[in-house]
Formats: sequence, structure tokens, C-alpha cells
Amino acid sequence: MRLMNKVALVTGASRGIGRSIAERFAAEGSHVAVNYLPQGENEIEARAVANQLKTAGMIVGGDVSLRGDVERMVSEVVQKFGRLDIAVCNAGIEIKKPFLEVTDEEWNSVLSVNLYGSFCVAQAVARQMVRQGGSGKLIFISSVHEDIPFPGYTAYCASKGGVRMLMRNLAMELAPHKINVNNIAPGAIATPINSAVLSDPEAKAGAISEIPWGRFGRPEEVAAVAVFLSSDEAEYVTGSTYYVDGGLTQQVTLY
Ligand code: BGC
Repeated sequence: MRLMNKVALVTGASRGIGRSIAERFAAEGSHVAVNYLPQGENEIEARAVANQLKTAGMIVGGDVSLRGDVERMVSEVVQKFGRLDIAVCNAGIEIKKPFLEVTDEEWNSVLSVNLYGSFCVAQAVARQMVRQGGSGKLIFISSVHEDIPFPGYTAYCASKGGVRMLMRNLAMELAPHKINVNNIAPGAIATPINSAVLSDPEAKAGAISEIPWGRFGRPEEVAAVAVFLSSDEAEYVTGSTYYVDGGLTQQVTLY
């Protein structure tokens, strides 16, 4: 067990990559707070995730783009488990729209969840870690699009590029507190965010043709890297992005 008795908050953990990270953390001995956006079926899904964790878990409802929700969530976790050792800023959304048609509302919603939400959660958690005397792990789930363009997803790419610089700055500012800060940049992973592509055989084949490894990734493959970055073995690892993308970022189409 690599995360024995640690306490972790995973945002957007009712499904997809966040869910997989929550499950794997618990399998490694960590207590996990499963965050979900209180909307639709999310609470039921989050409860189902928390109920089958191998350790005592909890659910924490809240919108990462609202400061009040984030502060409340952090204090709920600390009240239950006494501390916070790991935060995975995973909650994210994307909207596909040609740049010329994107509205202010769409731009703002993507930026406020993906970038402001990451800032807000990281800040509230880092303040808690400093209050505890320092030490801890912050992980952002960015994307291959923290670096490579994705036509039709300008707001998403801008938000993830922002997360890249957020992470690099925090790695420097929080190093004196011995808080490690890193990004995981997933490529095309088989999760609900990609359901439209996954359910369209032609679109799916097109996406796969751009992945050197020849298939979509699995959420567990992202979770495996999150475990390493959250473990004591990653003590000297900070300020880096870890790509989990089957080589997607190396793919250059010349013709
Ligand atoms: C996006 C997916 C996309 C993948 C690879 C991810 O960040 O959320 O929609 O398939 O990047 O392009």
C-alpha cells in the first residue's frame, strides 16, 4: 500500500478519471473525499463510488468554481479526517464550438471550472497543508491540450495552458513548504467526456488513427500515475507534466 492513511480530496470524482483515481487511492490505503457537482445524478453516482471504496470515504458536494463551496469542502474533509495530504484537481468541462461563434458565457464557464476551479481548490488545500506544518501533494489533471492546439476547443485549450503555468508557478512557490505540485496530461481516455466520439465508429477510428499506441487510454492508466505522484517515492518530483497519452503529443501530421 503506497498511500496508507493519507487523506485525499479528488474533485470531479463521481465518474471518469476522477472516479478511477478515487478508487485506486483507496486501494492504496488512502481515505478519499469524493467531490461531485450537486446536479442531476451526480450525487447518486458519487455516493456509489464512495460506498465501494476499500477505505472509509466520504462525499463532498460542491462547485469548484465557487470559493464558498471550496472552503466548505476543505473544512468538511478536515473535520472528518483531521488533515489533508493530497488534492487532485480533476473536475473539468469542455465545449466544442468554432472560435468565431464562442459566447462570453461559454468561455467563462470553461475557464471558471478548469482554471479558476483549479486555482481555488489548490489554494484552499495548500493553505490547509501549510497550517498542518507543510508537506503534501497537489496534482492537476490538465490535458495534452495544455500544450497542443485542438481546433474547436479554444476555451478548453486556454484553460489547460493556464493550468500548465499555474502548476509551474506553484511548484516554485510551495517548494519551501515541501508541497509537490505536478500535472498529469491525459490524451484521449475512454470516459464520459468523450462519449460522442466513442459512440460514433467513424469519429472513434479517426481519433485512434492519431494515437501511436492505437487505442484510447483507460482511466486506470491515469490513476496509476496519480498514485506515484501522491506517494512518498515522488518526494523529489515537482513542477513537471506527466503525459499519459499513448504518444498522442508526438504525432505530427505533415500532409
Ligand atoms: C479532451 C478529449 C480529447 C483528448 C485528446 C482531452 O483533454 O478532453 O476530448 O479526446 O484530450 O485530444
